[in-house]
Amino acid sequence: MTSTLKSLRALSDPTRLRIISLLQDEELSVNELQEIMRMGQSRISTHLGLLQDSGLVQSRREGKRTFYKLATKADTEAAEFLQLAIRGAGEMPENKSDLTNLRRIIARREDQAGVYFNQVAGRFDRSYGPGRSWQAFGHLLLRLLPPLVVADLGSGEGLLSELLARRAKKVIAVDNSESMVSFGAKKAKKNGLTNLEFRLGDLENPPIEPNSVDLVILSQALHHAENPEVALQSAFKILKPGGHLWLLDLLKHNFENARELYGDRWLGFTESDLHNWLEKAGFKKIELSVVAREEQPPHFETLLAGGIK
Ligand SMILES: C[S@@+](CC[C@H](N)C(=O)[O-])C[C@H]1O[C@@H](n2cnc3c(N)ncnc32)[C@H](O)[C@@H]1O
Repeated sequence: MTSTLKSLRALSDPTRLRIISLLQDEELSVNELQEIMRMGQSRISTHLGLLQDSGLVQSRREGKRTFYKLATKADTEAAEFLQLAIRGAGEMPENKSDLTNLRRIIARREDQAGVYFNQVAGRFDRSYGPGRSWQAFGHLLLRLLPPLVVADLGSGEGLLSELLARRAKKVIAVDNSESMVSFGAKKAKKNGLTNLEFRLGDLENPPIEPNSVDLVILSQALHHAENPEVALQSAFKILKPGGHLWLLDLLKHNFENARELYGDRWLGFTESDLHNWLEKAGFKKIELSVVAREEQPPHFETLLAGGIK
C-alpha cells in the first residue's frame, strides 16, 4: 500500500482523528490517552499502531512507558493530512471534553513535580535526590578552577588531591605517613594522574620550594600538627605572592575521644586562634566561617578558613 493510501486509511476513523488532535501539542502515553478519551487500553493501542504504521505518529520508550507524538519528520503530504485530521477532530462532539481532560492531565503532570519539590523545600539540601551528591557537586565546582599549582598538606591517600589533579597544573600531596604516601602514589599512577606527586614530609616543614605554589590546602590536617602556628607559617612560605590558603578543620570541641579514635592532637580550634595565627603568619584578606555541622553527636562543626599571601 502506498503511503498516501496508508494515511487515508489511518484518517478514516474518528477515534484516530481524536488521537491526532490530542497529540498535536503534547507527547502522551497510552495510559494518559486512555484517561482522556475514556477508552480501553487495547483499543487505543491498536489505533496508535495503525497511526504509527502510516508514519503519522512516532513513539519513544522511557522505562516501561511509551510516549507518542505526531511525526516530526512528516513530509508535506503527511503534514497536510495531519492538519486536515486536526480540523476534522475539532468538529467532533468529543472535542471539548478531550481538550478539558488533556488540560487536567498536563496540569497533574506538572503538579507531580511541583508537589515533590514543594514538599522537600527547606530540607532539600539534606534529603536524598537521585544523582545529587557532594562528590558530584565537587566535580562541577572543580571545573571552575584555573590550572593552579597546588600543595595539599596532610593529604592522606589523596582524596582531595586526586580531584584537584584533574584540573590543576600540578598537585603536590604531602603526608608524614609512609603508608598513606605509598598508597596514594600507587593510586594516582593507576588513575593516570601524572601531575599528582606524593611527597613524604611534615606539614610544619613541607618538602616544597618557597614561593612556588598558587594554592595550599589543609583539609582536616592542622589539628594533627604539633605546632599549628608553625604549619601556617610554612604554608605562607611556600605560597607565591598572591597565592591562597584554604583550610578545613574542626571548630573547638570537647570530644576527648577524638585523640584516641582519630589520632587528633588538637580538639579543633577557635575562630579567634586561627585568625590570630593566620594574621601573624602574614596572610591578608582572612576569611573564617563555620560551613558544616554534623547532625549526630558530638555535632562536630567544620571551619573553613582562608587567606591570601
Ligand atoms: C584526617 S586525615 C586528612 C586527609 C585529607 N586531607 C582529607 O581531608 O581527606 C589527616 C592526615 O594528615 C596526616 N598527618 C598527620 N600529621 C601530619 C604531619 N605532621 N605532617 C604531615 N601529615 C600529617 C595523616 O597521616 C593523615 O593522612
